[in-house]
Amino acid sequence: MTASRTPPTRDPRFAVWIGTTAALLVAAVAVGFVWLPSSQGPGAPALWDAICSAIGLPVRRPQAPVEAGAPASNVAWTAATRRILATGDASRGASLAATTCNNCHGAAGVGTDALFPNLAGQTRAAIYKQLEDFRSGRRDAAVMGAYVSGLSPQDVSDLAAHYASLPDPFAGAGGTGTPVDAMARRLVEVGDPLRGIAACAACHGPLGLTPGAPGLRGQQRAYLEVQLQALASGTRHNDISAQMRSVARQLTAQEISALAAYYSGLGATGSR
Ligand code: HEC
Ligand code: HEC
Repeated sequence: MTASRTPPTRDPRFAVWIGTTAALLVAAVAVGFVWLPSSQGPGAPALWDAICSAIGLPVRRPQAPVEAGAPASNVAWTAATRRILATGDASRGASLAATTCNNCHGAAGVGTDALFPNLAGQTRAAIYKQLEDFRSGRRDAAVMGAYVSGLSPQDVSDLAAHYASLPDPFAGAGGTGTPVDAMARRLVEVGDPLRGIAACAACHGPLGLTPGAPGLRGQQRAYLEVQLQALASGTRHNDISAQMRSVARQLTAQEISALAAYYSGLGATGSR
């Protein structure tokens, strides 16, 4: 037997080899699990989310600022709600509206200011739902609160019947006021499937009508813009199942303003 050779573990090249491998491993973990996932998309996710996304585990989604567990609205489209809507008395609603509502929403249901929404031509369900949401505080009632707090459930359905009975002043309008923006028109008629945006017309008419979806044709431009921004940021969150927030969140500021111009322009007769 010759003199004992240096055992592999004592060989200095072994230590270098182990050290290099360990350093490579640390670098690979840092790049693959932390740096790459966190460099994806806007708003770098937290470290834990980055690791989860790297190894394919579900990542927590940011929540809209709504109190935990609170429903978006106390209104549900049940048979009972439809019965309440059917009991609305339009002429009693008209006299209720004459005392206060008309000052802002106009005797013909057309807002007297760009921030006061038009109510004429909207469905009973849409008017009823918004009034109930103001009453329960599900929709910010900073302005409307004072006018709805004294209303009884019967008053609400009478007012809804009244506004729904007013003729839609924009039904026959040519919409010649604003040049039609192709991008807005596409969103309205087709949506944007890649971003999960359904066509506005599929819920707001004329293609389809989701219960409670307000009519938008001829609506005040400034009002539309404010509401879309509030739905996008989540400060307005009374839409059942976040139907509208999930659309608004996907829209850019430019699209919001083009859509507001498009819908308000549809009611233009040239003079508005
Ligand atoms: C001082 C002006 C003012 C008065 C008076 C007023 N409103 Fe309003 N209303 C508003 C404004 C502004 C909004 C938009 C929402 C907001 O900013 O709170 C609104 C929103 C609404 C909406 C929601 C419309 C939509 O498309 O979402 C309904 C319905 C409504 N008002 C009905 C009424 C009724 C019924 C009365 C009378 C009982 C009334 N309003 C009195 C200013 C007024
Ligand atoms: C999946 C159906 C759906 C689609 C698609 C949709 N909406 Fe809505 N939208 C709703 C519903 C439902 C409401 C009523 C929310 C509530 O109950 O307050 C609403 C509310 C709104 C409001 C507030 C109106 C008011 O008077 O209070 C605006 C503005 C609006 N949508 C614009 C749009 C635009 C623009 C698009 C297309 C980019 C769009 N919506 C697509 C269902 C939809």
